[in-house]
Amino acid sequence: MTTVGLGAVSGVTADEVLAAVDAVLPAATVGVRIATLDVRAAEPGLREAADRRGWALVGHPAAELARVPVPTPSARVAAAVGTGSVAEAAALLHGGTLTVPKTVHGRVTVAVAVAVAPADPDLSHHGDAELAPGLVDLAVNVRADAPPPWLRAVLHASIDAAAAYPDPAPARTAVAAAHGRPDDEVLLTAGAAEAFVLVARALRPRLAAVVHPSFTEPEAALRAAGHPVTRVLLPADDGRRLDPAAVPEDADLVVLGNPTNPTSVLHPAATVAALARPGRVLLVDEAFADTVPGEPESLADRRDLPGLLVVRSLTKTWGLAGVRVGYAVGPAPLIARLAAQQPQWPVSTPALAALAACTTPEARAEAEQAAQDLTGWRTTLLECLPPSVVVEGDPRSSFVLLRVPDGLAVREELRRRGWAVRRGDTFPGLTGDHLRVAVRRPEVSRAFAAVLADVVAGTTPYTSEVP
Ligand SMILES: Cc1ncc(COP(=O)(O)O)c(C=O)c1O
Repeated sequence: MTTVGLGAVSGVTADEVLAAVDAVLPAATVGVRIATLDVRAAEPGLREAADRRGWALVGHPAAELARVPVPTPSARVAAAVGTGSVAEAAALLHGGTLTVPKTVHGRVTVAVAVAVAPADPDLSHHGDAELAPGLVDLAVNVRADAPPPWLRAVLHASIDAAAAYPDPAPARTAVAAAHGRPDDEVLLTAGAAEAFVLVARALRPRLAAVVHPSFTEPEAALRAAGHPVTRVLLPADDGRRLDPAAVPEDADLVVLGNPTNPTSVLHPAATVAALARPGRVLLVDEAFADTVPGEPESLADRRDLPGLLVVRSLTKTWGLAGVRVGYAVGPAPLIARLAAQQPQWPVSTPALAALAACTTPEARAEAEQAAQDLTGWRTTLLECLPPSVVVEGDPRSSFVLLRVPDGLAVREELRRRGWAVRRGDTFPGLTGDHLRVAVRRPEVSRAFAAVLADVVAGTTPYTSEVP
């Protein structure tokens, strides 16, 4: 990946941007990404330049750029932005070597630096890729012993009606009632993952801010649709907690998860709600909300917050990942825009049957009991982990994020010993020393912790800095 770091004044044109980049970039360079200050990533000239060439465009907050040492700093730029060179800091942010130091081109102050950076994290890597026959699955965050028998019976019965095209109306009404909303504020989707794609296709954000580390599909969908994305990285030393001030004020689409995969951190509802404002869509991925007893920080029932879109999934708690079932709730006009992007009959008859069945008071009580059981199981896991392993943040969901010395090697050794855990380094903001581990029944956690203790006893210190 070649990263072109770029500093520019407001109002710069696409032609000026392309002339500057072409002056330093060898012809026919492939895999180009333009990186700049987040506010500049929203500039029409930069967007048009990136669009014309099919380049990715990424914006970074000034505070993030200010942390990168630059070879050619300028006092004037440092005074204005906080980094001595936007171009060099943006080029070097993800590592690599500076191959062309900054140069200024023409009357507009466009400076370009080029770095050959290591590949961006693989946003399409998910826990299921870690599985193999014979391995105990601590990599996928789906409840291992679900769906329960009564739900399997519902699914089987729904096959009898499979000849007819699916009718979403009853399930939609059931979901709407569960959240105290009218039907037109609910969109049923083939899993939460479909909702992210619909958002990316329906909206044309000037600046999308994605809070990381978090589930990577929302960012992948936004990038696939060609939208500029800025990453807001929540640091480890603050417990990966949400800092609303870190989200660029002019972001008109903000995406975050609550509780967050992979950190398991549960942000206070009030802190998340504070990010909503007129003119902005606030997408809160609550795929794991039902893993927290009582769902105290869920915003799914809030109808007063402008632009709030809450995405939910049934695949985790009910063990329905293969059925693909989820939904989004939000203002009716926004729901209608997303619906316009869906194909006809996007949610299958078994998925609709599961939705209606999992929304009854009895099913919700069962989910609540499962969340309470999970809380105890998580305590057991945390208590038996070896002392050299650091637990990041304050875990509140069905998985924990660990920092383990020489994590990549530890993961390999765990696999050799029959345990699959989820690598952390494909999440933006995490490193090879991060591993995500699913919370399972106490006897499974104890067995795992004993093996982990044995494996880490033979490892060297941490291999990478925590960003
Ligand atoms: C945080 C988060 N959101 C959404 C999803 C996707 O959920 P679904 O299976 O409903 O598409 C996942 C899957 O791992 C996830 O971790």
